[in-house]
Amino acid sequence: MAAATTAPELRFPPGPRGVPILGNVLDVWRDPLGFFVRGPRDHGDIVRFRFGHHRYILLNEPDAIRHVLIDNAKSYQKSRNYDALRLVLGNGLVTSEGDFWRRQRKLAQPAFHRQRLAGFARTMAECTEDMIASWDESPFDMHHELMALTLRIVGRTLFSTDLSGEAAAIGEAITVGLKHANDYAEAVIRIPPWLPTPNNLRFKSAVRVLDAMVMRIIEDRRKRGEPGDDLLGMLMSARDDDGHGMTDRQLRDEVMTLVLAGHETTANALAWTFDLLSRHPDVERRVHAEASAIEGPIGIEQLPQLSYTLRVLQESMRLYPPVWVFEREAMADDVVSGFNIPRGTLVAVCPWSLHRNPRYWDNPEGFDPDRFLPAAVERRPRCAYLPFATGPRQCIGNAFALMEGQIVLATVAREWRLSLVPGGAPVVDPKVTLRPRDGLPMTRHRRSPA
Ligand code: HEM
Repeated sequence: MAAATTAPELRFPPGPRGVPILGNVLDVWRDPLGFFVRGPRDHGDIVRFRFGHHRYILLNEPDAIRHVLIDNAKSYQKSRNYDALRLVLGNGLVTSEGDFWRRQRKLAQPAFHRQRLAGFARTMAECTEDMIASWDESPFDMHHELMALTLRIVGRTLFSTDLSGEAAAIGEAITVGLKHANDYAEAVIRIPPWLPTPNNLRFKSAVRVLDAMVMRIIEDRRKRGEPGDDLLGMLMSARDDDGHGMTDRQLRDEVMTLVLAGHETTANALAWTFDLLSRHPDVERRVHAEASAIEGPIGIEQLPQLSYTLRVLQESMRLYPPVWVFEREAMADDVVSGFNIPRGTLVAVCPWSLHRNPRYWDNPEGFDPDRFLPAAVERRPRCAYLPFATGPRQCIGNAFALMEGQIVLATVAREWRLSLVPGGAPVVDPKVTLRPRDGLPMTRHRRSPA
């Protein structure tokens, strides 16, 4: 008699026990970064957590990540935790799904082509030069300064508008919007967004300020009959295969997405890099030497001369990935590295723990930019390093952010050395992005001419 065929045995990844009902909620709430590092260390690179009744699987090894983000990406979508961001960003590239996302991504992609970005390099350098022109040797909060700088850069490259200068109200609205999204994402009990609580009202009024700003800029362009050659102009001129462009509402959501996705992430990457440089004088000296060897303004042509600076930035984003965790939801049953992933499971990649996996990184806590020399990169699996994610939903602003980082670092390093104020070591604060909790208090020292 033939042996009866049986369904493959269900195998779920191992994980920490947690407590009844809440599961691992309290542990992750107390120390999210430590929790995501301990999980794989104690239970293996594919580990199961339970948050209330939600099953949550962390992938901490490249093959499994590749399967979910690239090979079988069609079976996954952004998790419900992105609802918090949807409140501010609407249905833009970060939060949309399916055919709508695919069409928008196709329309926006050419605007981020390296060639098109070349023109933005000068703007990035000019904004940085303006920033340091006002500096003196008094102590200051470098994180705050970088938030203003990256906002100004995104404003000028996106819509040729100085967002930081135009109105403090806009900076304020962006801050309120982001804080609300952060609080909403973290809340154990989520207050429905339609309830007229003081926080919800403050948030709604911030969104109204942002909406009015974006709509006014779009209307101006339409009236002038020329979209312009900045990113907004490129998005306004983009046409799909049927000759259709974006509606004003879609433009609003994409612009808001780009302002918010592009400014805090880059400011945080730079803040952690300046922090690391101040703690590693040997690395700092090499960055200074590289930047000082460039004469005249820094533009796209000078970037190849800033290869060490690029490695510093990459290594800084290994240790402090601005997007420290991202999640997907399984839309169909799947099997990942021999483990069953039932439909509805949340699957997470945590660059903070992935970038510290000792199987791929020697001395994971050490700061060593030469890990990003081409030969060393070749030796590592591609999905061992994911500050910008990978696959179809990879960050569209990847090249923009790296170019901005190189230019800002080099422009500052040519003239200033920054050091942490005593006792000012920043504390990591894992919100929607990885921020220094109380800013980055530093002192500035003008460099003597070489
Ligand atoms: C160091 C800076 C940055 C980092 C670390 C970063 C990281 C990321 C990551 C990890 C994702 C994927 C999120 C997910 O799958 O859930 C993402 C998506 C995205 N990022 Fe960035 N980002 C940075 C800068 C920028 C900039 C400068 C822009 C635009 C000007 C931008 C625009 C976007 C957009 C639109 C998406 C959604 C792409 C899509 O799903 O089609 N980002 N980013």
